[in-house]
Amino acid sequence: MSVAGAVRAVTTLRLTEMKQRGEKIAMLTSYDYSTAKIVDAAGVDVILVGDSAANVMAGYETTLPITLDMMIYHARSVVRGVTRALVVVDLPFGTYQGNSKVALDSAIRIMKETEADAVKIEGGEEIIESVQRIISAGIPVMGHLGLTPQSIHKFGTYSVRAKEEAEAQKLINDAHLLEQAGCFAVVLEKIPAALAERVTTELSIPTIGIGAGGATDGQVLVVHDMLGITNDFSPRFLRRYADLHGVMTSAVESYVADVKRRDFPNEKEQY
Ligand code: KIV
Repeated sequence: MSVAGAVRAVTTLRLTEMKQRGEKIAMLTSYDYSTAKIVDAAGVDVILVGDSAANVMAGYETTLPITLDMMIYHARSVVRGVTRALVVVDLPFGTYQGNSKVALDSAIRIMKETEADAVKIEGGEEIIESVQRIISAGIPVMGHLGLTPQSIHKFGTYSVRAKEEAEAQKLINDAHLLEQAGCFAVVLEKIPAALAERVTTELSIPTIGIGAGGATDGQVLVVHDMLGITNDFSPRFLRRYADLHGVMTSAVESYVADVKRRDFPNEKEQY
């Protein structure tokens, strides 16, 4: 790969410029080569190899069980399908909370073994030393505040975060700390729209919202949810752009029926 070819068209710098110009950032998750290829070609700016792979790819209840090796497998597959979008990979639960050396080692494995562009980490003040250490090694970091699913057992609920003044103040403080530490963007998940707007105005780095209203600099959704492959998850913030659950179910039902009645394969479909 040439030096020019090694850098994808969307860079962290370009995301900052988009915020400055008021151009919205479109981000979606992907976990495999074929989906990433479609998502990239359709013009998405940032592809997140999210630890939501634990839910939608592996069927776990929470994101906690997914391992660094599993994330690296998904990220490698995604990177092979992407030419334009910036590829960001989640550091999974247990791979950065221990100390900043553990966090740096995990981030380095992701960058070396996947050729992705950046990592994402959940949390604020508690993990700021890890964020600084990863960034000082030249690895771009995206923050993630609000509903941070890796802390679900602490929260006890997936409902809206930071509705109370104290939690909102901590979130604002954490957002500033992440910006000062050098994060290139911050995901704001499931927080009041007014709070997301305030953070977006106060920060010079882009905010990417999910369930955080329309004022953030960009939006992110889980690709399985917005395509309607999952049909058992319907939070208010989710807009479904297709019913792939229905499309896939009826296609598979037709295939089963065709096989059973000996219609498939027909003469033209054999050698
Ligand atoms: O893992 C994920 O998909 C995420 C998004 C919901 C932001 O972190």
